[in-house]
Amino acid sequence: MDADTYIQRLKVSNSLRESTLLEMVKALHLPAGSSGLDAGCGVGLQCLQLTREIGPAGHITGLDISAEMLDYGREMVKKAGLSERISFREGDIGNLPFDDSTFDWVWSVDCVGYGPWDTMKLLGELVRVLKPGGIVSIAAWSSEKLLPGYPRLEARLGATAAGMAPFVQGKNPELHFYRGLGWFRQLGLKNIRAQAFVGSVHAPLDDDVRQALEELIEMRWPGVASELSPEDIAKFQRLCLPDSPDFILNLPDYYAFFTYTMFWAVKP
Ligand SMILES: C[S@@+](CC[C@H](N)C(=O)[O-])C[C@H]1O[C@@H](n2cnc3c(N)ncnc32)[C@H](O)[C@@H]1O
Repeated sequence: MDADTYIQRLKVSNSLRESTLLEMVKALHLPAGSSGLDAGCGVGLQCLQLTREIGPAGHITGLDISAEMLDYGREMVKKAGLSERISFREGDIGNLPFDDSTFDWVWSVDCVGYGPWDTMKLLGELVRVLKPGGIVSIAAWSSEKLLPGYPRLEARLGATAAGMAPFVQGKNPELHFYRGLGWFRQLGLKNIRAQAFVGSVHAPLDDDVRQALEELIEMRWPGVASELSPEDIAKFQRLCLPDSPDFILNLPDYYAFFTYTMFWAVKP
């Protein structure tokens, strides 16, 4: 996917994720005036939420491997008048360009532990740059129910390769995101916590949320036809294609929910 499409998708999905992510930020009780790292920050959408929590004396560094994402983020933060409080740095989480014990807290969403990268190496780097007593937090999209009334179809879609992505069949189960507690334990962290945060939406959908759901449904199960029966393919196309008269979002009583799971812990 090119950077512009990726940026557009992150922005569109924000109306769906924003309030859930805010609850997650609040659960961390980040100290006012603290300094934190958003690792794999994308365009920095959560940097804006995090900065509200830590107030004007705090500082956030958004780090991402993509220069295009960061350019977008810098522009957005400048427009919001927050350039003093949020700065961006290009870099690889696997080899962070910061000294040991630099930050009071470290946060990473839909990145560390979730993608196809070497989780322990990336997590180890997050912990290295964290001060003793600081909080490390990783979170990721962890489930969804988007097709009300069609649990069997949704279960079969969930069992496809796309439905399980980014986890792949045959991968060590200990590397599944749900096993995050074990990663933190291996790193010797303390006060280890896990919590699922639920976002729910229902009709009438406002335009932004409808667009976000449309994109989510389009992105969620790409290329699944080869793994479904002809009956399921026909049902999937009837329910999940926006041009279909039976497109699921047109239900007058549409309801959906999703979860984000956050693991967090303290560096001894
Ligand atoms: C799904 S996006 C999530 C962005 C952001 N955290 C959010 O939730 O809006 C994952 C991000 O991780 C970044 N990324 C992936 N691997 C990385 C690495 N090794 N170091 C730094 N950033 C990385 C990607 O460029 C992308 O912006």
